[in-house]
Amino acid sequence: MDEAIRFIEEKTNGFKPEIGIILGSGLGELADEYCDLAIPYSEIPGFIKSTVSGHKGRLVFAEISGKKVVMMQGRNHFYEGHTMQEITYPVKVMKKLGVETLILTNAAGAVNESYRPSDLMILKDHINCMGSNPLIGPNDDSLGERFPDMSEVYKKDLRELAKKCAEELSIDIKEGVYLANSGPCYETPSEIHMARMFGADAVGMSTVPEAIVANYCGMRVLGISCISNAASSHDGDRLSHAEVIETTNKAKSKFKSFILKILAKL
Ligand code: HPA
Repeated sequence: MDEAIRFIEEKTNGFKPEIGIILGSGLGELADEYCDLAIPYSEIPGFIKSTVSGHKGRLVFAEISGKKVVMMQGRNHFYEGHTMQEITYPVKVMKKLGVETLILTNAAGAVNESYRPSDLMILKDHINCMGSNPLIGPNDDSLGERFPDMSEVYKKDLRELAKKCAEELSIDIKEGVYLANSGPCYETPSEIHMARMFGADAVGMSTVPEAIVANYCGMRVLGISCISNAASSHDGDRLSHAEVIETTNKAKSKFKSFILKILAKL
């Protein structure tokens, strides 16, 4: 970890990011447009290369709307076979670089039947159904406590700020509960039925590990899902990664202006 921090600080010439953004499937364009400096994950000690199409795999530094930002253009997933600790390592690196606010984004399936593809949802809370937890193992007391509180992972003031930004942009914003499964399978119709009974509004395969670690490290978290599809149902519609990418592509300009507005107001 110290080696990674030293390496990044040297490369970035002391640029001290205050806000971190993890860009989800199909949402990486922000880091193409705003890029003062990019470091491929493959060069950073301890980082793993991103393997999913639609994810690039580099750490991008930029000043956006007057804020110093570090973006992960592409994330690593549990379903790729990495450990929970490996996929959340970049969050700890961001913390050590000075990031205090982390914006987590993802593409997600709609569980809530009133949600439509291309809708944006602010995460109010999450349900971890991934079958593991990134904090399992010896605790690093310098980062956080053994039994972290999880009563407000997605900070209320950040959610209110995001809602205000959406209103100003005339975006019909949703706020709901994100349930994370390990993937890589999409859900069965019965699993979606269960998620709905659990109180979930959207399902996905990411974000929760990073949110757990960020909260543990004392970072303020904002989560945003881009609804890419109606979740699995018995109506015979099939779901593909191509559809997920296609919809997030359609929503990306809305998503981008939303993030820019949030950064300006943070
Ligand atoms: N399920 C799980 N993960 C997803 C989905 C989905 O329907 N859409 C995008 N990511």
